[in-house]
Amino acid sequence: MRQAAAARAMSQAEAWRGDETQAAVGETDDRIAFFDFHPTTADVRAEVLDGLGQTQKRLPPKLFYDQLGSRLFDAITELPEYYPTRTEIAILRDHGSEMADRLGRENVLIELGSGSSLKIQTLLAALGPSVYVPVDISRAHLLESAQALARRFPTLRIRAACADYSGPFDLPLESDWKSLAAFFPGSSIGNFDPHDARSFLKRVGRVLGSGGRLLVGVDLRKDPAVLNAAYNDAQGVTAAFNLNLLTRINRELGGDFNLDAFAHRAFFNAAASRIEMHLVSLADQEVRIGDQGFVFRRDETIHTENSYKYGIEDFQALARDAGFASEQVWTDGARLFSVHCLRVDGD
Ligand code: AVI
Repeated sequence: MRQAAAARAMSQAEAWRGDETQAAVGETDDRIAFFDFHPTTADVRAEVLDGLGQTQKRLPPKLFYDQLGSRLFDAITELPEYYPTRTEIAILRDHGSEMADRLGRENVLIELGSGSSLKIQTLLAALGPSVYVPVDISRAHLLESAQALARRFPTLRIRAACADYSGPFDLPLESDWKSLAAFFPGSSIGNFDPHDARSFLKRVGRVLGSGGRLLVGVDLRKDPAVLNAAYNDAQGVTAAFNLNLLTRINRELGGDFNLDAFAHRAFFNAAASRIEMHLVSLADQEVRIGDQGFVFRRDETIHTENSYKYGIEDFQALARDAGFASEQVWTDGARLFSVHCLRVDGD
């Protein structure tokens, strides 16, 4: 029975992805199906070599989330300086049932960048969907949280997809699922440049279809001192998170980065309305990855992340350009963070 379900899911996964990538599908429980579209080591190598070959060296922030990186990110969310997570959770807690009214109950709920799925628990309790589709790039994290949610919500079916949603992505959806809603928490939308954020929202809109709703968490522009502190915590967890990228490259791609020769740097770039994270080279040095060498001058940086901060109207305008109407927005009393309900504008 379980084998038959896995085979069915496997043939669907092959159909979604075409021939080039085959999703590994497993079932850890009758209610959990797992679809693995994780990027391969060759994909990661190509992106890293390309990024380090640019004049301004860069690495994509999705590479933060290996197993240790995901745990470090969880630790960041609990830091006193990092206000976004607890503020968003409070907004969800205070307005969860209103949000559920907007999204519509008994939906299929897709969560993009589900991570440890903490926030979704409030929404699942309010919304009571029959199917939950978490999507995340960190395989171990995704599986662990799917299993925890299956225990907590005994009637919920879970179809978890390990995938990189920053580019075009497929989802393990069934054709007869009509009423879809999506949740994109944590202001991960801020990790896209505005142009890419628009393209991403358009892709989500196509998945949801006309009238489909998206609940999205967006961090707001505020006093730069608050922002700078959130990305330069006193305990150095964000620094460890940033530097872990180099450890990952050493381990997975045969790199020889000396971690003592790089330092974390994060600052608010007011003109671009974004936090930038960089890794700064502390010396003139050459780093090898496999058979390729990369020269660093002292003070040269690798740009590892942008985290855009929006005004509410700016974000609504961006969403409108991507084909969404803004239905409602919730914020906390200090207007640190916002949660938007957007509806795909039909013709
Ligand atoms: C996941 N993302 C929304 C976080 C952010 O705030 O941009 C990642 C992060 N980087 C450093 N601290 C947290």
